[in-house]
Amino acid sequence: MSATLIDGKAISQQIKDELKEKCLELKDKGIEVTLAVILVGSDPASQVYVRNKKRACEYIGYNSLSYELPEDTTMEKLLGIIDELNNRSDVDGILVQMPLPKHMDEKKVINAIRPDKDVDGFHPMNVGALVVGDKGFVSCTPAGVIQLLKRGLPDYDISGKECVIVGRSNIVGKPMSLLMLRENATVTVAHSRTSNLKEVCKRADIIIAAVGKAGVITKDHVKPGAVVIDVGINRGDDGKLCGDVKFDEVSEIAHAITPVPGGVGPMTIAMLMNNCYEAALSHKLGE
Ligand code: GUN
Repeated sequence: MSATLIDGKAISQQIKDELKEKCLELKDKGIEVTLAVILVGSDPASQVYVRNKKRACEYIGYNSLSYELPEDTTMEKLLGIIDELNNRSDVDGILVQMPLPKHMDEKKVINAIRPDKDVDGFHPMNVGALVVGDKGFVSCTPAGVIQLLKRGLPDYDISGKECVIVGRSNIVGKPMSLLMLRENATVTVAHSRTSNLKEVCKRADIIIAAVGKAGVITKDHVKPGAVVIDVGINRGDDGKLCGDVKFDEVSEIAHAITPVPGGVGPMTIAMLMNNCYEAALSHKLGE
């Protein structure tokens, strides 16, 4: 392997440690940070994510309120809990773990969260703020990718680079494109209907793969010397976690690459914790 490995685990730890310090400073001023985490149903992956989010709160020194609701919870019940949390002055952030059970309307749930407590950055108000360049919460995974690039490659200048994002989801692809635009990259968003994916990707100085399919980005998609960020978390045929990028072959030609696991994954939680801190500053210090 010749590429520089961008260590998401180490960078996320660094961010959490910075927040731990800042949380202590808030405590000295009598301010506590509180995140409410809501899980509906018993999807095993969601249970792991929620547990990790609560653990991160504990590590940094935030309070976490946990709501674990049965699969057959009604929309009414969930919206009632959100309403109560919206109105609690001690609660800074509200997170509803996705996906929700099929009988629930995810959009309606996201819209019910007060935008200033929407630490996931999913509310249309926060997405709109990102589009026009206003202050607001940014979706955690794409925000984490920006931190990986800045902290993992401190001498690398994103400005002016060709960036190809593969994937156009509301959670990753779309906000990622706006964040890279904010960093002055030239941005292309490719997706499942892109007809000449290899050629499009080959133009990129920076490829961000957020497809959700194991190994779709091969060495034939990558210009030698490109920076490759792998957002995918998939189970390979061998049952092991793997990304959207064929790591073994791409790491031979890339300038830098993120591993899976240990790349983008840990950054999502670190950025969530950062959004909670920002929420508390704005609610409790008016900053
Ligand atoms: N499901 C997958 N990723 C996320 C995330 O970032 N936040 C929430 N709430 N649910 C998710």
